[in-house]
Amino acid sequence: MDHFVYREDALCAEAASLEDIAARFGTPCYVYSRATLERHWRAFDDALGEHPHLICYAVKANANLAVLNLLARLGSGFDIVSVGELERVMRAGGDPARVVFSGIGKQAHEMRRALEVGIRCFNVESEPELERLNAVAGEMGLRAPVSLRVNPDVDPGTHPYIATGLKESKFGIDIGDARAVYRRAAALPHLDVVGVDCHIGSQLTRLAPFQDALDRVLALVDALQEEGLSIHHLDLGGGLGIRYRDETPPSPAEYAAALKARLSGRSLEILLEPGRAIVGNAGVLLTRVEYVKSTAHKHFAIVDAAMNDLLRPALYQGWHEIVPVRAGGSGEARLYDVVGPVCETGDFLGKERTLSIVPGDLLAVRSAGAYGFSMSSNYNARPRPPEVMVDGEQVYEVRARESIEHLMAGETCLPGGI
Ligand code: LLP
Repeated sequence: MDHFVYREDALCAEAASLEDIAARFGTPCYVYSRATLERHWRAFDDALGEHPHLICYAVKANANLAVLNLLARLGSGFDIVSVGELERVMRAGGDPARVVFSGIGKQAHEMRRALEVGIRCFNVESEPELERLNAVAGEMGLRAPVSLRVNPDVDPGTHPYIATGLKESKFGIDIGDARAVYRRAAALPHLDVVGVDCHIGSQLTRLAPFQDALDRVLALVDALQEEGLSIHHLDLGGGLGIRYRDETPPSPAEYAAALKARLSGRSLEILLEPGRAIVGNAGVLLTRVEYVKSTAHKHFAIVDAAMNDLLRPALYQGWHEIVPVRAGGSGEARLYDVVGPVCETGDFLGKERTLSIVPGDLLAVRSAGAYGFSMSSNYNARPRPPEVMVDGEQVYEVRARESIEHLMAGETCLPGGI
């Protein structure tokens, strides 16, 4: 459930009209709903209830400081994949002691910073990374808390670009090799083995792959226990899907119930790293129709947002619902490809959508809160759009639109003049 609803025939974010937001901040513009964001985080936290747990929001889904700050106020942990994300979390008031650090390419300076601020855990993805972390912690006279990210080889049944738990994948350590690598980790003097981690993919819409992965990870935990290595927490990554169109993903409550059923009688703390399920349906991308163009074959709605603003349709054929901000729209209903101004055939936001529109109309691209702004770029020298957070009737600009000056900041020509 989200808080984007029509009131008096105009789409609103909570109690704020998207028409007013467009008039005030221009288009394209990302609009987030605080109530939706908080509701989704709480759905995970409440679902795990009394079971010891920590919800570590995956920062990559949406790293805006206001988003991070609202989650930090709820007591959220954070899953980061770079020192940049760590600095964002801390700037937003997040507690480093609730941060887990994922990713296959951690650099020594990133490890150093994470150790300096005392993060909760490093999710280590290879043996060389283990050796590097041990060395960095040793130089600092510290011990680094680690989990190994294991690759349980389950098929999450999602788009191949976002499936990460298959054995062909670059992520994690093959579960068959995990015991040996754990032994190595336990023998290194500057590491503390605290957990087991896995993340099998994103936008999963069934429970079965999560359950299979958990069974395999629990078998590993038992095997480690037999060797005298006791594991304190299980980090099951993110990946719970959302409804973009007609998907029926399990709710956080159903997901948590399935996990708890398998974990009863064990004292393992659960860490989860949801990104999309928290922020995906908490945001829309607001865009205006610039032109309507018809060829012998098709009608095109040319809008002012493009693949640089929202890459998902171009990159994964991601389907996002596109709705008129004025209920019902205006003009004659036709089948449109909704496309942006970027010079690529792949630059579309949606294909074959029935819309009643005329130039100047506002459209909302839904479910754009996750992997929307965070994957945006300046391609075609397009300044990135502003981000706005709605809280009831209040509207806050939480990131200003980039200017043309921003686009060239830091660039210089060679000496010599023209
Ligand atoms: N933890 C790890 C280690 C991850 O790699 C990811 C996502 C997450 C957590 C969060 O997954 P989520 O709950 O959001 O599914 N750009 C793609 C999605 C890439 C996901 C990458 N990893 C998209 O727009 O669909």
